[in-house]
Amino acid sequence: MNGAVILAGGSGERLFPYSSASLPKQFLPLVGNQSMLQETYTRLRKRFTADQIFIVTQASFQDTVLHQLPSVTGEQIILEPARRDTAGAIALALAKLKGAFDVLLFCPADHHIEAGTEWDGALATAMDYAQMHRRITLFGIVPNYPETGYGYVEYERTDGPVCPVVKFHEKPSREVALKMVRSGQYLWNCGIFAIPCDVGIEAFRTHLPEHYQVIQQDFRAMDWSQFEALPKVSIDYGLMEKIHDKLAVVPAYFPWNDLGSWTALERVLNQDESGNYTFGQVKSLDAQNSIVFAPKHEVYLYDVSDLLIVCHDNQVLVANKNKSSEMKSWLPKLTDKP
Ligand code: GDD
Ligand code: MG
Repeated sequence: MNGAVILAGGSGERLFPYSSASLPKQFLPLVGNQSMLQETYTRLRKRFTADQIFIVTQASFQDTVLHQLPSVTGEQIILEPARRDTAGAIALALAKLKGAFDVLLFCPADHHIEAGTEWDGALATAMDYAQMHRRITLFGIVPNYPETGYGYVEYERTDGPVCPVVKFHEKPSREVALKMVRSGQYLWNCGIFAIPCDVGIEAFRTHLPEHYQVIQQDFRAMDWSQFEALPKVSIDYGLMEKIHDKLAVVPAYFPWNDLGSWTALERVLNQDESGNYTFGQVKSLDAQNSIVFAPKHEVYLYDVSDLLIVCHDNQVLVANKNKSSEMKSWLPKLTDKP
């Protein structure tokens, strides 16, 4: 049997103040009415039955998941006592699901993929390929600018729907990313992985032995101190960069967005004729090139440009839009929170 695991444990700090430590972005609606978790779950339900879908998240979010996904049972929520990044989350899921599942699709909870697009076909292709050829199968999007927040998949272009991977490069510098985009030999890694469990576990054994020890445990009698002692490392740095001979990639053409930051979100917001991206009731006069996210407020802009304005409950953020991608460096100084 195959299944899917939603990674829903991120902190979403680059969407302050809408997203917060107590309710991070995956539990909030960013596009439409459903939360990002609900949107992801609905998308996966087209291929997987309700009992084949699992969610990995921190223990403190258990009630939120049960509330947002009424058809999910407590058994299907894999709870982490602490965040250990995606390698830790995937290792924990493998500890629970090993033996019962053949191929598992690991899927972030905070991506927007438009329904009714090539996604369904690409998913079927990746799952079938992973199962038949025993390769960790990635989804690759043709890059159109030198994004430094993504992984890049160097691949051998073939005529078939699945291509061999030459190398995986996580989060390159801007200079390197620019060369990669221009060369035409790289795809953006979507962060969605179809992993044959035996292949994934073997890769952990070779490259992340502490994680392998966690996977080997009997999940019901888990020694949680071993999990908590894991180094914080992502699956991309920890495994994908080291196992190119175990990888394959499906070049994918569905509209895909990692809604990780306010500037990423602008790609799915309404744009007015002056280039302002807005969500909520926003009126503007002589205002340009700004992002306004204010689901429950009326916002009026006059003669300003390049602003990021976010209104949520009793908090308002006003910032230089062009500095919003560096939020992780300036926000702690502003809020006095580490
Ligand atoms: N359960 C759990 N626990 N989930 C986590 C944890 C954790 O400790 N850390 C992150 N996640 C979840 C996030 O919520 C998100 O849904 C997903 O795992 C990916 O983590 P990110 O932190 O958002 O990764 P990224 O965006 O920097 O990079 C990844 O995604 C890019 C595409 O969006 C990489 O796979 C890149 O290679 C890729 O290009
Ligand atoms: Mg992300």
